[in-house]
Amino acid sequence: MLASLGEPPEVTMRRILVIGSYNRDTVLRVPRFPQPGETLAARALDRFHGGKGSNQAVAAARAGAAVSLAAAIGTDEAAEAALALWAAEGIGAASVHRRAGVPTGEALILLDDRGENEIVIVGGANATLAPEEAVAALGVSALVLAQLETPVEATLAAFVAARAAGARTLLNAAPAQVLPEALLDATAILMVNETEAERLAGRSGAPADLAAALASRVAEGVVLTAGAAGAWWAARGAAPSHVPAVPTDVVDSTGSGDAFAGAMAAGLAEGLPIEAALRRGATAGALACRRLGAVPSLPRRAEILALGG
Ligand code: RIB
Repeated sequence: MLASLGEPPEVTMRRILVIGSYNRDTVLRVPRFPQPGETLAARALDRFHGGKGSNQAVAAARAGAAVSLAAAIGTDEAAEAALALWAAEGIGAASVHRRAGVPTGEALILLDDRGENEIVIVGGANATLAPEEAVAALGVSALVLAQLETPVEATLAAFVAARAAGARTLLNAAPAQVLPEALLDATAILMVNETEAERLAGRSGAPADLAAALASRVAEGVVLTAGAAGAWWAARGAAPSHVPAVPTDVVDSTGSGDAFAGAMAAGLAEGLPIEAALRRGATAGALACRRLGAVPSLPRRAEILALGG
């Protein structure tokens, strides 16, 4: 049906399933990163919701998508806080599994004065997500988004089942690790930063070159993000194109990649062409650098659109 004059066009959102982690983030603000063997005094300690899976689910929901999450958490206080977050953000948590006696995931984040971070994670319950649980969560999802803080076996099983059912799969291969070729075979779109790209390619190289090389290993193509240098999109078999960065003030870059992935996924679920979805992701990633903490900085749809995303 045609929208009448003055009304925004109707947007049809298809459901996204995010398979991934939840961590409670402890952020220590430091003037600089310590040297090996050095003890440094932090300026402040803050706690936030985190975990790449949960962050990306929140980012996609705030960008306007209908999102459900497959995850594993404990039965501790952090797990209760996670459930409250997902309820508040409208994220379907029917496939979130509780593990008695296993702690919810944790991340220790050092944040320096430039807004750069160093992160150490303790997987806890995240490491227990089983392949059958991820597959059972698929439902009617048109797009499945995953990262690498939950078991690769679970993502692989879900991606294979999703592709067989005609759904699109988007893998954010973070944190960097070598992957089974079968997972790349079942991936439509791969999203990596420069470190992750080099790990997967097994060599260093210019971003456009690495993106093009990796694109031949997935069905659709590769998004390579490079912070202030922007991003590259390499469709399988085509020349890479550059996506300019959106200028931003950097207070804390934690969660910027998650904002990019979640907002891009939301754009794809809305039916945007890849170039427009990338612009939406890049805009969300820039906005996510402006505030302290991963989840507090994830932008909402109106903010992303207002900045041209
Ligand atoms: O991508 C940022 C996230 O990485 C943090 O929230 C932390 O929990 C780690 O998973």
